[in-house]
Amino acid sequence: MAFKGLGSAVYLAQMLISESVKDGGTAIDATAGNGNDTLFLARLVGPHGKVYAFDIQALALQKTQLQLAKYGYKDRVELLQAGHEEMEKFVPGPVDAAIFNLGYLPGGDHRVTSSACTTVRAVQTALNLLRPGGRASIVVYTGHPGGNEECHRLEEMASALDGRQFHVLKIDFLNRSGRAPVLIVIEKAGITP
Ligand SMILES: C[S@@+](CC[C@H](N)C(=O)[O-])C[C@H]1O[C@@H](n2cnc3c(N)ncnc32)[C@H](O)[C@@H]1O
Repeated sequence: MAFKGLGSAVYLAQMLISESVKDGGTAIDATAGNGNDTLFLARLVGPHGKVYAFDIQALALQKTQLQLAKYGYKDRVELLQAGHEEMEKFVPGPVDAAIFNLGYLPGGDHRVTSSACTTVRAVQTALNLLRPGGRASIVVYTGHPGGNEECHRLEEMASALDGRQFHVLKIDFLNRSGRAPVLIVIEKAGITP
C-alpha cells in the first residue's frame, strides 16, 4: 500500500480492508478497473489465497492482467468479465473482504459507469458472502451522472443495516467540494479481525 495520506479515499479503504484479509484468505475486487485494488488484494491473500476480480469491460481486465503478470500474481486471481451484481454465481464464500471502487475506468470510456441499482444489489450480496469480522469498502464518486443517486441509495441501504449484525462507517471529506468521494466501510459483526 503506497502511502497517500488521508486525502485519498482509496488509501483509506485499503488501510481498513488490510486488517480483515488473512494470508491464504479470499477477497473480492468488485471493480477491477486498472487493477490497483486487485494487485493490493493479491498481495494480502498471498500465494495460497484467492482474489475474484470483476469488471464489465474487457479493457479493464486486460489492464489488471498486465499488472498481475508484472508482479507474478496471476495464479491467485480469477478475472471475471461479469457485472459484480452476479458475483454469487462465481464466488462460493465466505470471503474476508470486498472492495468496491465505483464510477468509471480512469483512462477509459467515462460513459461506462457503475450504477445505483446494480451496485446496491452487489454490495448486499458481498455482505452475505463476508465471514464474521470481514469488511467491505465502497468508494463512491458523485461527480459523474448518476453518481449522486448511487451514493444516496448506498447510504440509504447501509444506514438500514441491523447494527447488531454490521458496523457501518461513512468517511466524508469535510473541507472539500461536494464532488469529493465518499467512503463507506461495512464490517460484519461477530469477531474482531
Ligand atoms: C474507478 S474504476 C475501478 C478502479 C480499480 N479498482 C483500480 O484499482 O484501478 C471503476 C470500474 O468499475 C467498472 N464497473 C462498472 N460497472 C460495473 C459492474 N456492474 N460490475 C463490475 N464492474 C463494473 C468499470 O468498468 C470500471 O472499470
